[in-house]
Amino acid sequence: MFVCICNGYRSTELQELAKAGVRSAEEAYRSLGAGPRCGQCIDVAQQVLDGAHIDGARTTAGAEHA
Ligand code: FES
Repeated sequence: MFVCICNGYRSTELQELAKAGVRSAEEAYRSLGAGPRCGQCIDVAQQVLDGAHIDGARTTAGAEHA
């Protein structure tokens, strides 16, 4: 799914960055090469990053109990 239409950034790209430790949309966009343009996507991008971080924490927590 495209999160940022202006730059063509996909949710999968943001999820990979979240796994690598990126926590903010601005940091993610810098890593992908271009900052936000219209800014309409920032809230959704942040939600994707936060969701991937939470999912990763659950996976890690689950592994500790295995
Ligand atoms: S949709 Fe991402 S900057 Fe416009």
